[in-house]
Amino acid sequence: MTYDVVIIGAGAAGLMCASTAGYAGRRVLVIEHANKAGKKILMSGGGRCNFTNLATSPANFYSANPHFCISALKRYRPEHFVDLVERHALEYVEKSPGQLFCADSAKDLLALLLTECEWAGVTTRLKTSVSRIERVGEGMRLSTSMGVIDAGAVVVATGGLSIPTMGATGFGYDVARQFGLAVTDTRPALVPFTLTSQWKARAEALSGVACDVAVRSLSGATGKPRGEYREPMLFTHRGLSGPAMLQISSVWEPGDELAIDLLPGRDTYETLCAARRDTPKRQLSTWLGERLPRRLAQALIEWHGGDGVLAERSNAELSAWAQRLGEWRVKPAGTEGWRTAEVTMGGIDTRAISSRSFAVEGLPALRFIGEVLDVTGELGGYNFQWAWASGVACGNAL
Ligand code: FDA
Repeated sequence: MTYDVVIIGAGAAGLMCASTAGYAGRRVLVIEHANKAGKKILMSGGGRCNFTNLATSPANFYSANPHFCISALKRYRPEHFVDLVERHALEYVEKSPGQLFCADSAKDLLALLLTECEWAGVTTRLKTSVSRIERVGEGMRLSTSMGVIDAGAVVVATGGLSIPTMGATGFGYDVARQFGLAVTDTRPALVPFTLTSQWKARAEALSGVACDVAVRSLSGATGKPRGEYREPMLFTHRGLSGPAMLQISSVWEPGDELAIDLLPGRDTYETLCAARRDTPKRQLSTWLGERLPRRLAQALIEWHGGDGVLAERSNAELSAWAQRLGEWRVKPAGTEGWRTAEVTMGGIDTRAISSRSFAVEGLPALRFIGEVLDVTGELGGYNFQWAWASGVACGNAL
């Protein structure tokens, strides 16, 4: 069997690359080891797939080589994907500013990608595994469960390590190492935190409570802050989750403490002093309950004591409350790991890969796209935009 292009991985990047190369007249085969294409697309965005973010810029990505993503993101922008979505008459909604989701179901987006592949004449083989890849002349030879396949080029689009039950493997990293590429350290990112016993019990009691916070991760070694995100936080029965925690998990390192501002955007001490002056008979718990979810306000009073009318609170007491509300310190035990992480931080070192064609330097028959590379987006549709942009850039260059 001979194809111009064999793409390994029928996920977001692989399918996008396949249809692009197919429309350009290439004979394309997509090999997927799972029993279904695009499983992560189906589970993304709570089943409605946050498929892009209109504000995407290179600043929304982490990588040891931050300039690498610029070219592809510039050439295939969110508007291009929105145009594709509109051509298929797929309804979408803007949930938070710039974050676009399917109006109904992520199934519609996967159907769009599969339809594009069909129109572009792409062949897809599910439940197919690759056991060996070797360079033969100018091309590549693959040993697969459907026999030996010769290809002008192989595109590895096998994604990251998160959610192994959905088909994630380290296959792409192994191929990269086989051909002499470096792989940077990988770790779960966009992942909830777990807590130790005392805090775990407290979080469990508050499970389901959500509030807006600003969070920073304080380095265990230097105390210096890493990153800052202002988004909602959610207490869970295992620890802390919600967009704020998922975002900060991308920069958090074991041993770091989280500094969480429960009343972001205000000077809490000034506000408390003003409340004592203007409403001296108000209970501290009432004041807290007006600004925080009631269950959290009650829990804070239980943990720290000191309820009573504001008039009787000394400056030192108000200062202590301002401190614990403005910089609640929690040291996570860890994260929930690959089981629930949305993405992989780190991956194939991009320094030996062309940012235009995604080909390996000196080996144009081998290419890597999508999340398998050391390019990781923030939460909010950026990771899919990277999958589309890298898939299209590579597909056009095949
Ligand atoms: P992807 O993981 O999509 O595809 C890789 C494919 O390769 C899979 O089909 C896999 O089975 C296959 N494969 C792996 N090893 C193989 C092998 N050895 N042989 C053959 N096939 C193999 N992003 C975003 O922008 N918005 C969102 O709303 C979300 N939501 C979200 C929720 C959850 C729960 C998760 C886990 C992730 C998200 N993401 C997200 C992240 C997003 O899903 C992710 O970044 C992209 O799917 C990455 O696309 P890729 O095509 O690179 O990998």
